[in-house]
Amino acid sequence: MRSSAMRDLMAITARPEVISLAGGLPDTSTFPAESFAAQMTRIAHESSAEALQYGPTEGFDETKDCILEVMAAEEMAPDRDDLIVTTGGQQAIDLITKTLVDPGDPVICEAPTYPGAVPTFCSYEADVHQVSTDDDGMRVEELERLLNDLARSGRRPKFIYSVPSFQNPAGVTLSEERRRRLVELAREHEVMIVEDNPYGLLRYDGEAQPTLYSLDGGDYVLYLGTFSKILSPGIRIGWVAAPPPVLEKIALGKQAADLCTSTLTQYFVREYFGEGRWRQYIEDLVEIYRDRRDAMVEALERHFPPQAVWSVPEGGLFLWATLPGYIDTTNLLAKALRENVAFVPGRAAYVDGTSGASSMRLNFSASDEDQLREGVRRIGQVITEQIELYETITGEHRVAAPPDEPEDPGGEVVPLPRR
Ligand SMILES: Cc1ncc(COP(=O)(O)O)c(C=O)c1O
Repeated sequence: MRSSAMRDLMAITARPEVISLAGGLPDTSTFPAESFAAQMTRIAHESSAEALQYGPTEGFDETKDCILEVMAAEEMAPDRDDLIVTTGGQQAIDLITKTLVDPGDPVICEAPTYPGAVPTFCSYEADVHQVSTDDDGMRVEELERLLNDLARSGRRPKFIYSVPSFQNPAGVTLSEERRRRLVELAREHEVMIVEDNPYGLLRYDGEAQPTLYSLDGGDYVLYLGTFSKILSPGIRIGWVAAPPPVLEKIALGKQAADLCTSTLTQYFVREYFGEGRWRQYIEDLVEIYRDRRDAMVEALERHFPPQAVWSVPEGGLFLWATLPGYIDTTNLLAKALRENVAFVPGRAAYVDGTSGASSMRLNFSASDEDQLREGVRRIGQVITEQIELYETITGEHRVAAPPDEPEDPGGEVVPLPRR
């Protein structure tokens, strides 16, 4: 077992004085409080006893009907019986891993991968292989080599876990060509894909991409969805669409885990979808988050040093910034927290605990534009101090002297070896 870096961080960043660019929180203050009150009041008046009762392990048909509407918005049309309602997408990752993985079984995911999946894969003792990503998502030619290498040693991964759209944490989106190739490879090697798609509907620019599930038709792809980012993470409702034999096993795992997902919040989803405004709410979120993304990118251009690079995501909630290799963002976080600002250090997205050390994940959905600018300014300042310190110590690049003072001709500099 190992701790989820994000959970640890959330405890620290809950302090009101901290500007947290660390969490993956949607802005729930955008949800109209009066609608919430009306929906919950209706449930209390009309279905109090049922809403307070246990429900079926697989979830209510009414919840599944709402899920079908959301999946249809991304051109997917599973049967209702191919769905199981889970307690968030996180439980779906856990149940799938529990169902499919025995200790030592290979599992493949992206590098970097969703930090919340790392402790899950580790707790079931999967042998995790990470495939690098670029601006077009997972490098499928590298994946192919890995699948061939594993096959040569008589091993077949239990699944390939991917967040193809607006990936958490890298913000990148798998290109259509690579999506098609990924699905082909899964078929050729008879390996399941676990497609985790919490952000697909939160697109700010560019063209929608077909989901892996729609390209494959649901034979080799287990699809994970969640209401967390398009409605509320507090309701803890996600789902899996999978072929019935896999679904049966997942249902057994879920019985052992929590019997059923909250009946009350499933009733809330039903009420909310019944009002027919869910698409409009997502459109509102898209407008808000697009502006926030733009504010963050502008702030990065302004406050981050030229040595830093970052992704500009077309959707989702995160971007990924990479600093010079001598900066360790885990150490940098301690300094940033002293300035009351937080981010997720890149190592959290790697299973080996060492890769990604000079990268960071930055969230732009949970803070307003002024907070984002100020948060990025503070991080930029801490990074600049680190770079200046390094360059001064190593003499690698002399820091420019203030214009009205002559440059210091020398002094003793202790040369440090490059890390
Ligand atoms: C890729 C991915 N999968 C799963 C989850 C878990 O979401 P939830 O359990 O709230 O549905 C998240 C949350 O940030 C995520 O980014």
